[in-house]
Amino acid sequence: MNWNPSVPAAGAAPRPDDSTPGMTHPISTDFDSTSGAPVAASQDYASTRPAWVEVDLSVLANNVRLIRADLSKAVRLLYVVKDEAYGMGAVAAAKVALANGVDHLAIYTLEEAAALREAGITAPILILGERTPLEIPGVIELKLTPCVSSLEMAREFDAAGRRRNRPVPVHIKVNSGMNRFGFHWREVDAWSRAVAGLGGLRIDGILSHFAQSDEADKTFAHEQIRRFEECLRVWGTVAPRPPLVHMCNSGGFLDLPEAHFDMVRVGLLMGGVFPSTVCRRIPGIASALSVRTRIAAIQPLEPGDTVGYGMRWSATRRSRIAVLPVGYGDGFPRVRNQGEALIFGRRVPLVGGVAMDALTVDITDLPGAEVGTEAVLMGCQGAEEITARDLARLKQSVTYDVLVGWRRRLPRVYRGGSGVAP
Ligand SMILES: Cc1ncc(COP(=O)(O)O)c(C=O)c1O
Repeated sequence: MNWNPSVPAAGAAPRPDDSTPGMTHPISTDFDSTSGAPVAASQDYASTRPAWVEVDLSVLANNVRLIRADLSKAVRLLYVVKDEAYGMGAVAAAKVALANGVDHLAIYTLEEAAALREAGITAPILILGERTPLEIPGVIELKLTPCVSSLEMAREFDAAGRRRNRPVPVHIKVNSGMNRFGFHWREVDAWSRAVAGLGGLRIDGILSHFAQSDEADKTFAHEQIRRFEECLRVWGTVAPRPPLVHMCNSGGFLDLPEAHFDMVRVGLLMGGVFPSTVCRRIPGIASALSVRTRIAAIQPLEPGDTVGYGMRWSATRRSRIAVLPVGYGDGFPRVRNQGEALIFGRRVPLVGGVAMDALTVDITDLPGAEVGTEAVLMGCQGAEEITARDLARLKQSVTYDVLVGWRRRLPRVYRGGSGVAP
């Protein structure tokens, strides 16, 4: 039996690039013939786990190229790689994206930015959200561009710029209706004059953010665009328009081309997940992330036997139940008798409750499945796919939450490397 996630199980649908070298978690199964000690690489314990998040970097690269080709040449492309590029691994995803048409990156925390800089990424990085004065030295040290949302923080950054005799590059955040961060659009006359007068700042950009861009009804999105444009007009009366005006997330990029301005900020769609069921589709965009495991045990059940905690499922016939070693501790939704896995390209139902470390599926109708057979919990196998949206329904949440919810204890395995990452 082969347990190495780099090699598909017998019967599993072949993956396009299974011959590709460049797994980031090489597994040694060699042992010294006299001492019996493992020979090499076995200290990477995570890589021996028969459950993993698989990131296909060639799919990610293709998504980036399709998005880039869909955009007007004059519009820059920013990739939001916060929270490990929505679960894929920020460094690997950023490197591939930068090599395939992305110009800028955005993250949310200083730690996320530091990881990118430590990996040698020199591209411009926008740090989203609002900072505190404590974070200013880190922002400057890491050469980040902060979003500034309040006069207090604008003055703090201005003072930092004056102290070092070099203006701090910032983007001004406008609250056009999201009501989270940003200078309020109604107060533009006051804040534009105040911010424009701060010589310790270099205003490189102005941005806003949609509260709802991916639904069929774009009424409020259009109202936000109108408010943002009014702010740009007023700003233009006190200072030059900055080089980077931007507003769109994935939904806006897809459906609101009139709001592309100088740059779009795309996160979710880069990984191949569309933000809603109604937004525009770009053919060829595919999910880069999948979650895979191997059957850890098989239980033969007699009619009436139950499975798992609480005994919430009982067999109505002689059954074979496969135990998959992934649970809610890995980020799988905590459901009971709902959901599916793919084995041999066929859907098999989850039975019983999902535990912290394991879930169970009914494989009675798959006599060829055995311990070690690959199972897909999210992603494609053969012609079937379990999507992030399928899991979001189970989780009663959104696709974003499903993607970032895959916990660190599931090792990330990279395929389709272009020699650029990780
Ligand atoms: C300010 C901002 N811009 C852009 C994005 C990217 O959004 P999406 O992942 O929908 O493309 C986010 C994500 O939350 C964000 O907070």
